[in-house]
Amino acid sequence: MRFEGAVVGERVVAPKEVQHLNAARESRLHRFLIAFLAGSAGVLIVWIVVVFGRPMRVSAQTLHYATSPDATNGEKVYKGGCIACHGPDGKGAPVENTVFKRPDTFPDFTDCAGTTPEPNGNWKAVIVHGGPSRGLSQIMPAFGDLLTDKEINDVIAYMRGFCKNVHHDPLGELNLPRALVTEKAFPENEIVVSTAASASGAPAWTTDIIDERTIFDARTQLETDVPVNYADQAHNWTAGFGDITLALKREMFSSLRTGSILSLQGGVLLPTGDSKRGFGAGTTQFEPFAAFDQLFKENTFLQTQLGADLPVDTSVAPRSMFWRVAVGQAMAPDHMLGRLFSPMVEFLAVRDFTPGASTNWDVLPEMQITVSRRQHVRIGFGVREPFTNTNGRTPQVLFYFLWDRADGKLWNGWR
Ligand code: HEC
Repeated sequence: MRFEGAVVGERVVAPKEVQHLNAARESRLHRFLIAFLAGSAGVLIVWIVVVFGRPMRVSAQTLHYATSPDATNGEKVYKGGCIACHGPDGKGAPVENTVFKRPDTFPDFTDCAGTTPEPNGNWKAVIVHGGPSRGLSQIMPAFGDLLTDKEINDVIAYMRGFCKNVHHDPLGELNLPRALVTEKAFPENEIVVSTAASASGAPAWTTDIIDERTIFDARTQLETDVPVNYADQAHNWTAGFGDITLALKREMFSSLRTGSILSLQGGVLLPTGDSKRGFGAGTTQFEPFAAFDQLFKENTFLQTQLGADLPVDTSVAPRSMFWRVAVGQAMAPDHMLGRLFSPMVEFLAVRDFTPGASTNWDVLPEMQITVSRRQHVRIGFGVREPFTNTNGRTPQVLFYFLWDRADGKLWNGWR
């Protein structure tokens, strides 16, 4: 997905202008200011990480554990209270032995593809408060009054053993809250509708309809992004598709012990948008990038992305590179079991490869909130403010709606 290209007010509304702007030489004072602002942004990030973040330790998770969970004790808990419904192997007790009708979402705990992306916190919420607390069936009882906190952590540790290849797939804990522009490293199964609208100047907006799904295995993701543009061009409303992106992402490394995940993505942007209207680059572009995310102990996180846009025909669109950082904090009431709120700040930079070009820096304070009871539907919103090369670049309002397809149907899990 290429937000820089689809961004209204940059290349959509005034595609030519921006390149010239970028190429214009900056005065010394201006350059000093840019360096100063970029430097302060860097210092701010380091400060946030040092103050709020501590590297994760062995067995650290997004949940707090007073003592490490004990799977052997968890087995006793499971055999005492869970086996009647979930079966000795975690696939579910034989249907003829159970009195209830299985809901569609009834879990098979041996299915790694279904369980590994699920963080322990999601399971714990269901075990403590019962199925209905997460929009699931009331057949799943609440155990918060029957089991101690430790017993619940232990039984989760035991149930994790039902999936046999847990060490190969990235764990759900590393699936950090989605930022508005910076792409995350975790391979996703979600549908996102993301809109960027110019907050001043001629009205214009771009809506990206994004489908992300894992293919082959849980470490590989296929992304399709179809942008739709609207713009008031000389008092005429025009609409049209932008450049469609097809991209493959591959998780290269991830570890919950260190809290890190690294992915590489290769994408192609097809010239499906009308470049005369400013809705597309007018040439095929390749977009490779690396994404590295780091989760810290108190659920502070850092997401970074470094990549390039490489048009085939550089006479119509310049080559450019971009780097993006999102710093945020995930928080939820009820010891991380309740609704998740994630304030973040993104620092976004893009620079053309043209001689004398300077870097466009933007700051984007934002918030993500889970809206459905099951937490499978989330919204994010923020304001993107250019702070260098501001001439011709307007602030933007960004908003997305996200549906995590793996957690059930869009209309289920709300009450
Ligand atoms: C009376 C039967 C019953 C018992 C006993 C029971 N469960 Fe469940 N459990 C269910 C059902 C049914 C679901 C599926 C709910 C749905 O999908 O709507 C479920 C779902 C779950 C989930 C949610 C998985 C997901 O997909 O997010 C977890 C975790 C879970 N059970 C753990 C346990 C544990 C741990 C115990 C024992 C302490 C236990 N259950 C005891 C019936 C039961």
